[in-house]
Amino acid sequence: MILETIVTTQDTDGSVHIAPMGVHQWGNGIIILPFRPSRTLDNLLASQVAVVNAVDDVRIFAGCLTGRRNWPLVPAEKVAGRRLRDALAHTELTLVRREDDPIRPKLYFRPVHQVNHAPFAGFNRAQFAVLEAAILVSRLDRLPWEKIESELAYLKIGLEKTAGPREYEAWGWLMEKIEYFKQLQGVT
Ligand SMILES: Cc1cc2nc3c(=O)[nH]c(=O)nc-3n(C[C@H](O)[C@H](O)[C@H](O)COP(=O)(O)O)c2cc1C
Repeated sequence: MILETIVTTQDTDGSVHIAPMGVHQWGNGIIILPFRPSRTLDNLLASQVAVVNAVDDVRIFAGCLTGRRNWPLVPAEKVAGRRLRDALAHTELTLVRREDDPIRPKLYFRPVHQVNHAPFAGFNRAQFAVLEAAILVSRLDRLPWEKIESELAYLKIGLEKTAGPREYEAWGWLMEKIEYFKQLQGVT
């Protein structure tokens, strides 16, 4: 199973990077598969540790894809790193195996520390819609325009039925980015 998370990493100077990553479950560990080139990949290889954050504020996903990466962080507890202050839960992990690949290396991690911070409140369709739209935004240059439009039209149904202010704000950021892309490409 793949879980959509926010991975926080840091470089050798302690500068933190946050990025949405779909992490693969691997027993009680996880596999992270960053596409090259990736700052997350560089940081993971340099530090050999990762912090994986479970969040329900989908603005963090949409924000990372639209230039809004400045989300509050606090120090991790057992590894040299940071976690999102508002994570529902976070796991601190160390790198135990690496399968190199010119496109998408596979990095295997084992947990060293896991903490729950707040309860999971339940599934929400608008949050799903924002995650799917964020994935579309991360592939704008690779997907046919008709596919993007038809998927957005479908996702909007769940969004409009179930969103709260955070989901609408996140959706708005993503739609702004899509409009900008359309203008650049001359799509009418
Ligand atoms: C829900 C979601 C899941 C993602 N999963 C991955 C992933 O597994 N690997 C990856 O390279 N990028 C993934 N992305 C895209 C990255 O978050 C984004 O391109 C990011 O900038 C990665 O590059 P960076 O490490 O240089 O920031 C995902 C994006 C979203 C919205």
